[in-house]
Amino acid sequence: MDPRLVILSRGPQLYSTKRLAEEAEKAGWAVRILDPLALTVVVDENEGKIFHKGWQVECEAIIPRIGYSVTRRGVSIVRQFERMGIIIMNSSDGITRSRDKLIAFQMMSAGNIPVPITAQVVSWEDTNRAINRVGGTPCVVKSTEGTHGSGVFLAHTDQHARQLVYQMLERGMRPLVQEYIEESHGKDIRVLVVGGNVVACMRRSSIGDEFRSNFHLGGTVEKVDISPEFKKIAIEAASILGLEIAGVDLLESERGPLVLEVNSSPGLEGIEKASGENIAAAVSERLNDLLRVLGEGNNKSISGDLNIRSDDSSKVSEY
Ligand SMILES: Nc1ncnc2c1ncn2[C@@H]1O[C@H](COP(=O)(O)OP(=O)(O)O)[C@@H](O)[C@H]1O
Ligand SMILES: [Mg+2]
Repeated sequence: MDPRLVILSRGPQLYSTKRLAEEAEKAGWAVRILDPLALTVVVDENEGKIFHKGWQVECEAIIPRIGYSVTRRGVSIVRQFERMGIIIMNSSDGITRSRDKLIAFQMMSAGNIPVPITAQVVSWEDTNRAINRVGGTPCVVKSTEGTHGSGVFLAHTDQHARQLVYQMLERGMRPLVQEYIEESHGKDIRVLVVGGNVVACMRRSSIGDEFRSNFHLGGTVEKVDISPEFKKIAIEAASILGLEIAGVDLLESERGPLVLEVNSSPGLEGIEKASGENIAAAVSERLNDLLRVLGEGNNKSISGDLNIRSDDSSKVSEY
């Protein structure tokens, strides 16, 4: 029987989902795309069960493609799959860490990965101190959770920075104040890491005066060659967060590469087209490698920096 892969995705028609399914099928997997919100979990004294419309879901591997708006529910489904001793191509812990910019920065900085100076603000009284700690304005104010550049702002004056912070606090968001890397205004480098190897990279550039380079804001992408230093940092960032598949965003600063963000469900369209690399095929090759390891008698879920996964959920609360 062919090994079975479940891609957890709410968008079966999305480019990334389709490409992952297509290449996994070519590599010998029987693939199903299931909406994580349509799955139900039964917890029992054993490893528990997962159902889809009343049918039990059984598989040898999953690739979670969990959207931001459903992170909590998606992560709880992934956690249940982890108990089944299968291949998890991004663990619940990895996804959780990457979705919280503060946790990700803390873990990376503890692992000596260079990151921009970033200050958390929990109440308005902290704002002036936070601005000073990152070197004053201009500075970046961003929400701890967020994607596609929607919660990221450039403040040119202290007054504007304070106003942005207050607005976020009022809305129950968790603001971060960050040093502005002026020399990389409007551009960054996205590196795709799969199974501890760099499989593709691209440069993203914004249009006009926009300082955010996000593709979703109309930015453009182009092929780029990166130095071994950039590659090493991207691989380490993915490894520290425990991600099998990671889109690592780096800024080119005067003091060298800085990791800005690590994405656990990176989009494949822009980067496959810009780089000409077959990232989806690299993912299925990795699945096959992990399947061999699983077949060699390991009875635990495997994921993250080539190691057999141990239950390290305690790490999340540490950070
Ligand atoms: N500190 C910074 N200095 C310079 N540019 C930044 C900085 N922070 C963010 N940017 C720009 O804004 C974009 C979005 O920021 P990011 O933190 O990745 O948020 P999101 O998760 O919404 O993508 C980045 O890709 C980068 O181009
Ligand atoms: Mg980003």
